[in-house]
Amino acid sequence: MSFNRRSLLAACAGLPFATSAFASARQVGLGELAARSGRYFGSAVTRDDVSDAGPHIRLFDGECSVWVPSWQMKWGALVPTLGETPDYRNCDTIVASAAKRDKRLRGHALIWHEHLPAGAERLSTAADWRRFVAPHITAVAGRYRDAIFEWDVVNEAIEPYDDGADLMRRSPFYAMLGPDYVAEAFRLAAEAAPSARLYLNDDHLYYAEDWQERRRTGMLRLLDRLVKAKVPIHGLGMQCHLDTRLRFDERIFRRFLGQIEDLGLTLSITELDVTEAPNAGDRSMAQRRLRAAAEAGKVLSVALDSPALAGVVTWGLSDDDSWLRNRGADMADNQGLPYDDAYRPTPLRDALASRFASTRTRHPT
Ligand code: G3I
Repeated sequence: MSFNRRSLLAACAGLPFATSAFASARQVGLGELAARSGRYFGSAVTRDDVSDAGPHIRLFDGECSVWVPSWQMKWGALVPTLGETPDYRNCDTIVASAAKRDKRLRGHALIWHEHLPAGAERLSTAADWRRFVAPHITAVAGRYRDAIFEWDVVNEAIEPYDDGADLMRRSPFYAMLGPDYVAEAFRLAAEAAPSARLYLNDDHLYYAEDWQERRRTGMLRLLDRLVKAKVPIHGLGMQCHLDTRLRFDERIFRRFLGQIEDLGLTLSITELDVTEAPNAGDRSMAQRRLRAAAEAGKVLSVALDSPALAGVVTWGLSDDDSWLRNRGADMADNQGLPYDDAYRPTPLRDALASRFASTRTRHPT
């Protein structure tokens, strides 16, 4: 089929995610490209992103095979004040839209020390866990047992700066049950949603910095304990909030991925984006976008070499919606996602597309 301008425009008209008259009629969605290598691609979404009236639904539909609620499935979003009845309306809307558009849903996150119900930060006993936390995990995982294929059960359990010998974060969950809260959360989730794949999710595990090496050590110790105790855990979610100021050493990252594989766990990149603005220097916007793409590309190249990597999720699709933009004045124009403020594809999208297209096919176990 030959493409002249008229036929190209006509062909673009029906594309679910054509964002410009010159979008290639042969542009294949990232979800489709990922699927060809046996993986998924998706994005964090809000209820508004995935409503039919959403201004960018065609992008979220055309690019993603997986959606992840960015905040509306968190405990504090469902239950603003401890003891209140959960409000599932936003999540139910996302679930219905995903079903209508044949998207799979990752759940995020059953427990996290942030975005808690008001009052939950004071919970500190095993009785508190039994009264509030366990029922929350069971209720949410159970409600969406047939809608969510993969859960971030526990988010951000590692924190070496809390000075614990186990390098774990001293969160209210840790106060209630000690380090075993992680295993207990996974057991409850497995009981409520027996067909879901259950992940431990965390960040800052990819760069050569010493403080990230301590995080990798803490994470490996925790995962080793969970696997040896036969806790129902399937994978590690690596958030991958990348940062061009940090030092990447392919050998170190590749070794870490191998250690996760040796534990028999799968991997997912769960929140990919790039911080590049603080050290943008006098680079042009085009150069900054290329540098963000190169940062993502070098991490993706190593991660996609791992047969354990099941999928990649970006934390949003366009920079104007990025949480990074709220992280200070020097981040106001950060360029770190697959689409720019005008919803045009960026070099980071090309980096995702080219890595998916060139990676070895994964055969899920
Ligand atoms: O949209 C509503 C607005 O209508 C309302 O007036 C306002 C008042 O509170 O809230 C707005 O929603 C906010 C939402 O972000 C959208 O901006 C929520 O309050 C706010 O809590 C929410 O923050 C999210 C944050 O997690 C806490 O849940 C961010 O979007 C989300 O990007 C961030 O994601 C985390 C991951 O879960 C874990 N890894 C780090 C990542 C970034 O912090």
